[in-house]
Amino acid sequence: MNRFLLIAALTTLLVTACGKPAPPPQAAAQPAPAAGAVPTTATATLDDAKALAVMNKAGCAGCHAIDKKILGPSYADVAKKRKGEQGAAAMLVKKIREGGAGAYGSIPMPPNSTSQISDDDLKAMVDWVLTK
Ligand code: HEC
Repeated sequence: MNRFLLIAALTTLLVTACGKPAPPPQAAAQPAPAAGAVPTTATATLDDAKALAVMNKAGCAGCHAIDKKILGPSYADVAKKRKGEQGAAAMLVKKIREGGAGAYGSIPMPPNSTSQISDDDLKAMVDWVLTK
């Protein structure tokens, strides 16, 4: 299903649920996906709301928040440390998948399997974290 159909379906749902017309979808707010790109649960460009939904679903939110340390570093601290670092995105994707420790202290991050977070969502999450 393409983005337009998805938005149309969601709008229909909203109208049905609320009994009054929903405002028109803000289609112009985000760039359209490249031709042939199939959006999965997340598109390549996550906004905060989508990223937080992925974090909750994947279980990252138990240990991470955008601007405060929980068990793991805040994503703002990660961005501060990693932004501009050569190969940071690929390194972070691998580290989140396999787990690791030592960069922020001795508490390890456990591995995160593909059943917790898909490859596409993981890449999108890392890109988003690096914008914080
Ligand atoms: C059980 C707690 C826990 C969970 C769940 C967890 N993390 Fe972490 N995460 C940590 C800890 C602790 C660190 C710091 C590791 C270190 O010091 O090297 C970390 C580090 C990170 C870093 C920075 C790594 C670096 O070297 O700069 C990123 C990015 C990150 N986590 C993303 C995620 C994402 C995305 C998820 C969900 C798929 C996730 N984490 C799930 C605890 C967790």
